[in-house]
Amino acid sequence: GKYRVVSTKSMPGTRWINLLIQQDCRLEICTEKKTILSVDDILALIGDKCDGVIGQLTEDWGETLFSALKKAGGTAFSNMAVGYNNVDVDAATKHGIAVGNTPGVLTETTAELAASLSLSAARRIVEADEFMRGGLYEGWLPHLFVGNLLKGQTVGVIGAGRIGSAYARMMVEGFKMNLIYYDLYQATRLEKFVTAYGQFLKASGEQPVTWKRAQSMEEVLQNADVISLHPILDKTTYHLVNKERLAMMKKEAILVNCSRGPVVDEVALVEHLKENPMFRVALDVFEDEPYMKPGLADMKNAIVVPHIASASKWTREGMATLAALNVLGKIKRYPIWSDPNRVEPFLNENSSPPA
Ligand code: GLV
Ligand code: GLV
Repeated sequence: GKYRVVSTKSMPGTRWINLLIQQDCRLEICTEKKTILSVDDILALIGDKCDGVIGQLTEDWGETLFSALKKAGGTAFSNMAVGYNNVDVDAATKHGIAVGNTPGVLTETTAELAASLSLSAARRIVEADEFMRGGLYEGWLPHLFVGNLLKGQTVGVIGAGRIGSAYARMMVEGFKMNLIYYDLYQATRLEKFVTAYGQFLKASGEQPVTWKRAQSMEEVLQNADVISLHPILDKTTYHLVNKERLAMMKKEAILVNCSRGPVVDEVALVEHLKENPMFRVALDVFEDEPYMKPGLADMKNAIVVPHIASASKWTREGMATLAALNVLGKIKRYPIWSDPNRVEPFLNENSSPPA
């Protein structure tokens, strides 16, 4: 192979490997056992010659790595994730490195996890499972693990992009919930969907569902029964859900986070969970992964899972494939990707495939 491409992790499937190998690339997959690679580990991987790197969201891609990649002759970095808060895109741009991410293929998978967590919290599935395995079940009781009925309640979505909109649609269509959402952009297609579904329910003699675009995030927090967070993480969304905003939420609300941990002030959240036993939370992401803030793991009203929102076979293979295509696209000036939902193959350069 003419081009040296490094992947900092082994990734699911073989398609991404074949794509690279068939296109003149010498692929090196890091075999290091430790879960999270340091900047020094990655510097060693980049070495003296490296055309492109496929990296992971657990790695800190900043000035040091991009200048090293540039020195090694590299032009492409692909984050195997849709979120890229771990990447300093400005530093990459400065060194002429194109940065890719993997949107689209994880939309439904991530939304399905947010929906699973919403239902699990509403019906107290994890607590009930522990109870059963703990040998505590002595027979059916009218009060045993009574939870919330979602039908007719309001689902709140903060960040109605690809994932937030897919989640909203699942909750509205699947469970006949009303929708309130907050986003800087109007989610026109989502609004149209809820309107049409509401008309369908009405025509069937059922209570129609409604939607509302909130004027503020607070309006969502105050009015929704289940709130799911789907913003990107940046300076404006850091600790978006803090002590004051938690206090605005209904005492029996459910909060779901499958975006990025620092969007929620986790210390304030633990306090809130202690003071409000009917409040429930389901988290896929944490402020300081892989750690949880003290006390969180002891809370019965919290469900915690280890950042698995995109973890379906189809999606993970798709992410790996896209990540490889991103790198190939830059190295070989390849027509990259023709899904109309994918606006830009690269985050920091205009490189739409030729028409
Ligand atoms: C996962 O968290 C991703 O951003 O793809
Ligand atoms: C519950 O199991 C019922 O039959 O109501």
